[in-house]
Amino acid sequence: MRLDKLLANMGYGTRTEVKKILKGGNVKVNDAAAKDPKQQVDPAKDEVMIFGERVEYREFIYLMMNKPQGVLSATEDASQGTVIDLLEPQDAVFEPFPVGRLDKDTEGLLLLTNDGQLSHQLLSPKKHVTKTYFAVIEGRVTEEDVEIFSQGVDLEDGYHTKPAILKIVKQGDLSDIEVTITEGKYHQVKRMFASVGKRVVYLKRISMGPLPLDEDLELGEYRELTDEEITQLKGGQEEENKKK
Ligand code: URA
Repeated sequence: MRLDKLLANMGYGTRTEVKKILKGGNVKVNDAAAKDPKQQVDPAKDEVMIFGERVEYREFIYLMMNKPQGVLSATEDASQGTVIDLLEPQDAVFEPFPVGRLDKDTEGLLLLTNDGQLSHQLLSPKKHVTKTYFAVIEGRVTEEDVEIFSQGVDLEDGYHTKPAILKIVKQGDLSDIEVTITEGKYHQVKRMFASVGKRVVYLKRISMGPLPLDEDLELGEYRELTDEEITQLKGGQEEENKKK
């Protein structure tokens, strides 16, 4: 890979800015001064230093965000803010995208990555990755609803959902619940409650596959997944794949 491309990919500036840095003699490759933007480097083998600092090259980025309400789970939109707008430039440079979608008014766990293969695995309907949501429901959620959800419910378009685990956390005119689903149909949780005559007034995703939302993340904050979490996500999928 070209040296200027590597440095630009790593967030050290645009290709033009990086060329200036190179010209200024601030970059070394394997201890030798490197001024030629076209110099070929192997990020896995060559030691690239910039301003005396080692450049740790990596291809993939894995982020967990606590998505706030009011932003779209999309990479760009002509008129509205997206989750990508919440990223620091040094993370946005990897061009991550959201793994699936949360509605504009839904909060909580959203993964962002540029690892297309992992994203595809997590979203594939065949892989049945679990997603758990906390929700506040207008109306009294009952044991009958729990039973109906456990059989899967008929949505308004005739689709019968896969079984879902519904737990009543607090029962009242406004009920707190947790629901675990294995699909990702459009507005799925809202439509499942609509099918039993109830309305979701607040929705937050609290886990995806093996990953719980890090409660230390304020709304709009994000962090990189740890190596262990990445292994869990990938490993979980490999285990699931073996079963099929
Ligand atoms: N179900 C919904 O209705 N909305 C979401 O954002 C996610 C699941």
